Amino acid sequence: MKYDFDEIIDRTCTSSLKWGKYENTDIIPMWVADMDFKAPPAILDTLQQSIEHGILGYTVIPDKLNKIVAAKLDTFHGWEIEEEWILWVPGVVCALNIACATFGDPHDKIVTTTPVYPPFLTAPANCGKLLATVPMIDINQRTTLDFDALEKEFKENTGLFMFCSPYNPCGTVFTKKELNRIVELCAAYDVVICSDEIHSDFVLDEDKHHIPTASVSQTAARQTITLMAPSKTYNIPGLGCSFAVIPDEGLRNKFKSRLHGLIPDVNLLGLFAAKAAYKECDEWLSQLITYLKKNRDIVQYRVNKMPGCKLNPIESTYLAWIDIKGTGLKDPVRFFEQAGVGLSDGSFFGQKGFIRLNFGCPRSVLEEGLKRMEMALKNHFSP
Ligand SMILES: Cc1ncc(COP(=O)(O)O)c(C=O)c1O
Repeated sequence: MKYDFDEIIDRTCTSSLKWGKYENTDIIPMWVADMDFKAPPAILDTLQQSIEHGILGYTVIPDKLNKIVAAKLDTFHGWEIEEEWILWVPGVVCALNIACATFGDPHDKIVTTTPVYPPFLTAPANCGKLLATVPMIDINQRTTLDFDALEKEFKENTGLFMFCSPYNPCGTVFTKKELNRIVELCAAYDVVICSDEIHSDFVLDEDKHHIPTASVSQTAARQTITLMAPSKTYNIPGLGCSFAVIPDEGLRNKFKSRLHGLIPDVNLLGLFAAKAAYKECDEWLSQLITYLKKNRDIVQYRVNKMPGCKLNPIESTYLAWIDIKGTGLKDPVRFFEQAGVGLSDGSFFGQKGFIRLNFGCPRSVLEEGLKRMEMALKNHFSP
């Protein structure tokens, strides 16, 4: 491999959200979705050039950036878009909140599925709207949408469906059939779809592909706003650079007018990093995916051998959604912290009895984390 994903980079004392939580402890942070790999050299080079230039002024969208994004979406996902459909925003979460505030009547509710990335659960209340949640269902060890339950909700005053594809935290890569079905349902009840596709570059199975929701049909394009970013993929989440793709002019204008005066433009470093990411980092990304696949296989094998733990096959993302109900642990996060591993608590995602483990880290760190979990569970079951 040309890039060294095994390299251990000390992130203590760097004001890192992930590492700061456990500063001065022997707990390995494996929680928030932030990887422990250095960003690709092409991104670091462009950032260095901006810093050396020395003036960090107000910035417009760099020349050809939208063209580069459009080409990337076409090459990677077979999605042909127009450059003017792209709107840059400083975060997917911010765009998600803007979508909640913009679409549907004030008394309409917003629907999402659980478990889900926590900001989905708080965004509706931020703009004074009601949230309805529909649990995901497991079919043959694969977590997917419960279309009948969703239809019931859509029937009753729903303005927006917040969808996550691929799915954080369960790792599902949705099929064209599933996407068509959700689009048809939303169209039937006039529900706008906000499709958060920030994890779209992390498909880990050879036989699966990410399909943008908006790309499945003309109806889908009219009904959907898609949120994407280079942040997860190239490990630059701290740069605050994301974008929405909105083919429908009406939806796009509504969304755009909500941004004015409230949401700042994306900063210079984020925009230049995005340009380098989409133009020059394909090889880095392909090697990252190879590395993450191996990490995924290790997690899949070892977690399923841990007493009381179950893990469905992870199709995508670098996150493992582990069912720990069989352990009988009352406070699993505290239990694993005491064993030296910092994980995310399922209840924040709307599903108790689960923990989420981030395996986007050097293999030796992952193996140490898994070893600590195995030891702790062994002692728990046979003290
Ligand atoms: C599904 C999903 N959406 C959005 C985000 C965060 O996006 P941003 O940092 O652009 O707000 C995350 C981060 O973990 C995520 O998993």
